[in-house]
Amino acid sequence: MSVKFDRFLYGGDYNPDQWLEYPQILEDDIRLMKQAHINTVSLGIFAWAKLEPEEGVYDFDWMEEIINRLYENGISVNLATPSGARPHWMADRYPEVLRVNETRQRELFGTRHNHCYTSPVYREKVRKLNQKLAERFDDHPGVILWHVSNEYTGECHCPLCQQAFRDWVKDRYHTIEEVNRRWNTSFWSHDYQSFDQIESPSSIGENSIQGLYLDWRRFVSHQTTDFCRAEVAALREAGAKKPVTTNMFYNNPFVNYYELADAVDIVSWDSYPFWHKGPESQTAVNAGMQHDVMRAMKREPFLLMESCPGPTNWVPVSKLKRPGMLETASLQAIAHGSDSVLYFQIRKGRGGFEKLHGAVIDHYGKEDDRTYQECCQVGADLEAMQRLNHSKVEASVAVIYDWENRWAVEASAGPRNENMYYREAVEKSYSAFRRQGVNVDVIDMTKSLEPYQVVAAPVVYMFRAGFEEKVRAFVERGGVFIMTYWTGVVDENDLCFLGGTPGGLMDVMGLRSTEIDALYEGESNTLRVVNSGVSDEDESDVRCSPNAGSFGGDRSDAMNAHDSAMFGGDKSNVWDSLDSNVTYSCEHLCQLVDLRTAEPLFVYGEDFYAGTPALTVNHYGEGLAYYVCADAEQGFYDDVYARILKEAGVPRILEQEIPDGVAVSSRRGENTEYIFVQNFNPTSAAFCPEVDGSEVIFGEAGDEMKPFSTVVLERKL
Ligand code: GLA
Ligand code: ZN
Repeated sequence: MSVKFDRFLYGGDYNPDQWLEYPQILEDDIRLMKQAHINTVSLGIFAWAKLEPEEGVYDFDWMEEIINRLYENGISVNLATPSGARPHWMADRYPEVLRVNETRQRELFGTRHNHCYTSPVYREKVRKLNQKLAERFDDHPGVILWHVSNEYTGECHCPLCQQAFRDWVKDRYHTIEEVNRRWNTSFWSHDYQSFDQIESPSSIGENSIQGLYLDWRRFVSHQTTDFCRAEVAALREAGAKKPVTTNMFYNNPFVNYYELADAVDIVSWDSYPFWHKGPESQTAVNAGMQHDVMRAMKREPFLLMESCPGPTNWVPVSKLKRPGMLETASLQAIAHGSDSVLYFQIRKGRGGFEKLHGAVIDHYGKEDDRTYQECCQVGADLEAMQRLNHSKVEASVAVIYDWENRWAVEASAGPRNENMYYREAVEKSYSAFRRQGVNVDVIDMTKSLEPYQVVAAPVVYMFRAGFEEKVRAFVERGGVFIMTYWTGVVDENDLCFLGGTPGGLMDVMGLRSTEIDALYEGESNTLRVVNSGVSDEDESDVRCSPNAGSFGGDRSDAMNAHDSAMFGGDKSNVWDSLDSNVTYSCEHLCQLVDLRTAEPLFVYGEDFYAGTPALTVNHYGEGLAYYVCADAEQGFYDDVYARILKEAGVPRILEQEIPDGVAVSSRRGENTEYIFVQNFNPTSAAFCPEVDGSEVIFGEAGDEMKPFSTVVLERKL
């Protein structure tokens, strides 16, 4: 199902339930929203206490009046199911709806996003309310989408959840002997005699079985997704026909979003980048990658469900957005495939936790307000770009970022318990690809690799079932696969592979990874080009491993092998242009490898493994498999990936070199490509985004790009 709206959605979360005693406010809001080109609001997200003030007593009239008023004024509604926060009466009468924390303490009533996902009472209350909402509002012409709950997250350790977990484990492994085998419970004599003994991990209980931990994470994600599915089913049972979404957020550790995405018709997410903290270019990469996670889950346009028009108030320091930042950040979402720009929130509340959170309409309530004016500008921009609505982003390059792998990497004791920098490693690969002006999909290990020419898999410590076969087939048929240090160490139960790593792929990579050196913060090593002349000229300067003598081959052998590869790209040797005097630094983790058939391109510069391989390439089938041994600096990835993409013949969106902080991406309409060029720098960038045969349809293209500015080009295909 591809969900298409008749226009880019523009607006945000609206909470008139906090203003029912101020009828004038609603009228003012409608006028101000229309002036700002707002066409959509998300309604009722935290309105349960107003919708069901007493158990079984429903009051929807106020909601209907508001939906009608909005509709008369051209504003559509994304209607929420309010399960994100429950009314007081429910917690008082049915304590089982409240969560139990990992030390087995039941929480008191309060805050939100903290209900038990298993409680039959909660599920039943939600089901009834969802059905009633669907019956009453689904066929309202003003309602265009269902916003199921809000930012599902967290875990519950109550007795109901424990039993559900045991059932889930039983369903997966059938016998307790199999559980013991998969979790390697003979370690420290922790074998289970029966399923009844299984308990969720706890700091005051079982916390040494990583297989248990991993399955608990999977269960929590599964139970959350199951809860979402039950909410959707309730809407559908009551006849709802409108599409559904649920809003995700940045890097949620509790829910595998690639799993949750399957429960909804369109993916949406809430983006709150830390603009103006650290280099803007890095924040842009970080936010851009998250947009690409959201798009790649369904390989469809997604929705930016929330973003902040002004300062966010839950961060340590609430920084104002510099003039132009709001527009640039909003259009970044569009550039990456969003069909909306929606905010939290339309109007600032008077009290409570979010009274100081940025909003389209301030407490002041008038239009001569800087943030409001900038929101009007973004609204006008989107109107000018309507023809881009629902155009697709096509990527021939992907990076793997996998939730289950993340849980496993973070839980494993060693090789670095300070920080494994998994997400950062993915971002380095992602950023290096983007730097070459190509669109990038961010996928997990369950996705097909077939749509791509080049795939990078940084730090895939755990191989999920079927992954190695997928990689092998991909390289065999001519794909270019890049793997890094700390890959293929364990299987999906966190059991170490026997017989050498990367498990099952040593022949594809042409090497065996032997040992991994973990570095303290502040320590580093260097990477240098093979045969860079740093060592004695008479000898080959590559050592196959720290224990071995010189590597038999030399750089020219590696290059010759390369030249004979069957590639659509640049057949001349892309590695020749590397400056052999340049060295790069690396930190955190240095993998040592024994080469089999792979050729070294870089070696380590220091320590007892100086001269051993640090970047290698192997020919396998029709394809190439690269191995990056260390957590190298960004410049290394930039230079290496530029060559890999060139060699593979991956087309760039723009041919020009792209300066730091400038981002290029594209969306594809019918016979048309829309090219976005954005300058995220607070200073001008020397870059002219003009391309032959294209027309500037947004912004100004000159010799330089202004600070925080966007240019959109249209190119006929
Ligand atoms: C989240 C929630 C919103 C609001 C915003 C504030 O994204 O979904 O309800 O609390 O944060 O930034
Ligand atoms: Zn529970």
